[in-house]
Amino acid sequence: MTAEQIRQFYDASSALWEETWGEHMHHGYYGPTGQYRVERRQAQIDLIEALLAWADIAAPTSILDAGCGIGGSSLYLAEKYSASVTGITLSPVQAVRAQQRAMTTGLGDRVSFQVADALATPFPTANFDLVWSLESGEHMPDKAAFLQECYRVLKPGGQLLLATWCHRPTASLAGPLTAAEQRHLQAIYEVYYLPYVISLPEYEAIASDSGFVQLRADDWSTAVAPFWDEVIRSALDPRTWPGILQAGPDTLRGAIALWLMRQGYASGLVRFGLLTARKPGE
Ligand SMILES: C[S@@+](CC[C@H](N)C(=O)[O-])C[C@H]1O[C@@H](n2cnc3c(N)ncnc32)[C@H](O)[C@@H]1O
Repeated sequence: MTAEQIRQFYDASSALWEETWGEHMHHGYYGPTGQYRVERRQAQIDLIEALLAWADIAAPTSILDAGCGIGGSSLYLAEKYSASVTGITLSPVQAVRAQQRAMTTGLGDRVSFQVADALATPFPTANFDLVWSLESGEHMPDKAAFLQECYRVLKPGGQLLLATWCHRPTASLAGPLTAAEQRHLQAIYEVYYLPYVISLPEYEAIASDSGFVQLRADDWSTAVAPFWDEVIRSALDPRTWPGILQAGPDTLRGAIALWLMRQGYASGLVRFGLLTARKPGE
């Protein structure tokens, strides 16, 4: 899975996603047990708020949104905290659209977007109070390089908040992934352009090895899994079909694969992992 393929995927599919779903390209939050019945866009905003509360984020003034999509989180965080936000994405289409949205929402003076690789960003060391990565870690071909880069660009005392697709832990009684589980994941990787995912304990180990301290992790699979029922419902609506076909074969395959995600959560294979940690202060 190359950066070029990920770029093409988001270049082709982002307009359709925005038209159907709006500016947030991530799961919704349906309460700790997944029981809340919430309108789908509200559920996505609820996820952002629940993550901020969980990580106890304290008024950052400079934020990097690593893997920003069309700037849903970036603009939300900029407004909430009166912060400066820089969003990076591999997709030029997303960067342009996000910048347009920043201008129309009146936040263009302190929110900016650019095409950059989160594994090797163009930013100085110790530049941000918060690195926010909402559902981009699963795309990273080198998870250690990604977390090391997050660490580098954070100011001393700065905080990382990562929410990402994982697979189940393998050091537990359930043991290593079975061949069937690996095939299931492989099918998900192919449609969503993911090089691979890892377990949450593996992320914790990498963060710790990268120098992060005050690590906390949690598994919110139950809270977010109902999202896929919503996406499936919207994909089954004939009004979205022309858009799916127009966006091309990759988007069509992505729509078909929605069931793989629902089943992955149901079996416990696919997990939604949260990690927050700090760069040590001076
Ligand atoms: C599922 S979208 C999430 C977008 C956004 N965080 C949101 O929640 O609305 C994944 C994003 O990660 C970005 N991405 C993937 N790999 C990346 C990389 N190596 N560097 C920068 N961005 C990357 C994609 O371009 C895309 O914008």
